[in-house]
Amino acid sequence: MVNTLPKPGIKTPSKETVLTPRFYTTDFEKAANLDLSCQDTELQAMLAEMRADYNRHHFVRDEAFEQSWEHIEGEARQAFIDYLERSCISEFSGFLLFKELSRKLKNRSPLLAEMFQLMARDEARHAGFLNKAMGDFKLSLDLATVTKTRTYTFFPIEWVLYTVYLSEKIGYWRYIIIYRHLEKHPENQFYPIFRYFESWCQDENRHGDIFKALLRSQPQLWKTWKAKLWSRFFLLSVFATHTMTVHERSGFYKTLGLDATEFDRQVVYNTNETAGRAFPVMLDTEHPQFFPRLQRCAAYNLQIAEIERSSQPKFIKLMRKLPLITAIIWNLLLLYLIKPIDAEALRETVR
Ligand SMILES: [Fe+2]
Ligand SMILES: [Fe+2]
Repeated sequence: MVNTLPKPGIKTPSKETVLTPRFYTTDFEKAANLDLSCQDTELQAMLAEMRADYNRHHFVRDEAFEQSWEHIEGEARQAFIDYLERSCISEFSGFLLFKELSRKLKNRSPLLAEMFQLMARDEARHAGFLNKAMGDFKLSLDLATVTKTRTYTFFPIEWVLYTVYLSEKIGYWRYIIIYRHLEKHPENQFYPIFRYFESWCQDENRHGDIFKALLRSQPQLWKTWKAKLWSRFFLLSVFATHTMTVHERSGFYKTLGLDATEFDRQVVYNTNETAGRAFPVMLDTEHPQFFPRLQRCAAYNLQIAEIERSSQPKFIKLMRKLPLITAIIWNLLLLYLIKPIDAEALRETVR
């Protein structure tokens, strides 16, 4: 039985919603049987890079952390803690999935098993570093309990390849855009963790490249019409989730001197461009309706959150939320139907 009473200083994880980072499990048997032969050279090169462990000494807290953070107060404090928690959970979710994959593939696919073990090593560092940052705010997540109490979503290995690829690449862009912004505006650097983002995001970039090689080793994941439909679906769901969460946390981006809408636009635009190197299609982010519709979804989502916070009876809340949920689904459907860009054709021309 898991103890539900939080200990002092241990943060109860925020309620799970459609937007909170999820924990995944997959078909390990199918993962073990993946034929990786056509990407073998790439994967061997990446394995060597992962073994080299360039960030071995990076995640060490320096003296800049050794001070009181009580001056970060009120909404800014809450917004930052939420940011740290969400980031920590999503890094930790990556750790658990990679660790499990590595364990299950150990005797079946040694190359993959080692790759996943090394990626789990990185994600554990990332999650640990974030959790120590939460400690500076006198809170920390009890990750062992989180592991036991969260629900695990089953994803077929194909979906894992699409979604983890995207989450690594979107992670890269989120970290690097914040880092570059703070390089230009050091006055907004209110806490030292952001200084670590440059090398940190290189880890995510490497993980993304490994997933790209895995994806490209499976022709059915990019050669078929089905693959195109799935790619569109996953691109859109990752972008919609990003847009909605960034707008929910606009307060945090404001403390960094970033405009949430502009930050989100940059992250989505760049991740989509990057994804064109692995996926058969990219979304048409320059379509005049693309960002306006995504932003409309974020605005409806904020209204839903507002209703959630009210003390009205559940049924009334549901009635008020229903038209907003419908509007979000409708906008997402219209976004999905925007003609995508054929990345395979683009690749041919570049060659
Ligand atoms: Fe990470
Ligand atoms: Fe990663």
